[in-house]
Amino acid sequence: MEIVIKPDYDAMSRCAADFVETSLRRKPDLVIGLATGSTPLGLYRELARRHREEGLSFAHATTFNLDEYIGLPADHPQSYHSFMRESFFRHVDLDASRTHLPDGNAADIAAECAAYEAAIRAAGGIDLQVLGIGNDGHIGFNEPSSSLRSRTRIKTLTEQTVRANARFFGGADKVPHHAITVGVGTIFEARQCLLLASGPDKAAAVAAAVEGPLTAMCPASALQFHDACTLILDETAAVGLKRGRYYRYVYDTKPAWQQWEKPAR
Ligand code: GLP
Repeated sequence: MEIVIKPDYDAMSRCAADFVETSLRRKPDLVIGLATGSTPLGLYRELARRHREEGLSFAHATTFNLDEYIGLPADHPQSYHSFMRESFFRHVDLDASRTHLPDGNAADIAAECAAYEAAIRAAGGIDLQVLGIGNDGHIGFNEPSSSLRSRTRIKTLTEQTVRANARFFGGADKVPHHAITVGVGTIFEARQCLLLASGPDKAAAVAAAVEGPLTAMCPASALQFHDACTLILDETAAVGLKRGRYYRYVYDTKPAWQQWEKPAR
């Protein structure tokens, strides 16, 4: 795992945008796995700015989102369909026919999950998977105790996740309790993973994911087994790491040929 620690949320977001931009310029038809939540909002804003002001193009890219609530109309303001449209899709030149999210209103959820996996395979697999992390260590909606080999399926949200997401819905009683999520196994097959975390609420989950045991009780710890995983954290999300000094040293002394970040602006 490569651990990058940035001073604050904006620096984390810019650094993540550099990572995505570098990948996209190398492979314009990049297949990108996208995440929701407040963490990647700064990344999406910065990518949209680069599209607008610097000509960064997503015209040949394909996207697959991690998850969607079950039972919310797609046009509900808190559906992940709406979230992605408002925070990213409508600001860039992605081809709408190549943006994908699971359909949380499908009549046959199992068939929808199988079709989503098939669509990812048909696109050639995910090249770069962007991830946030729940404060219980979940990725996508793979809650603790999720099989580390799981595929796209229905999951029941933990009470902790329902509480954490209540702020978007104006109360925990309005948060759906079920979601379709790609599996830990699905995420694991992405050629590269990029996990972002910001804020002190994430510090324990980040420490468990990076320095704790590999365990289904912290699904993000499965990334320890991934051979190309970068975490970009802000200072407050990194405070629980015992080897923070070492990670900074590694990053600061990285050979030039390994660097993907743009020079500081
Ligand atoms: C939800 C999403 C996850 C996200 C997590 C953290 O549970 N399904 O993909 O990582 O929330 O969200 P936030 O970034 O708002 O803390």
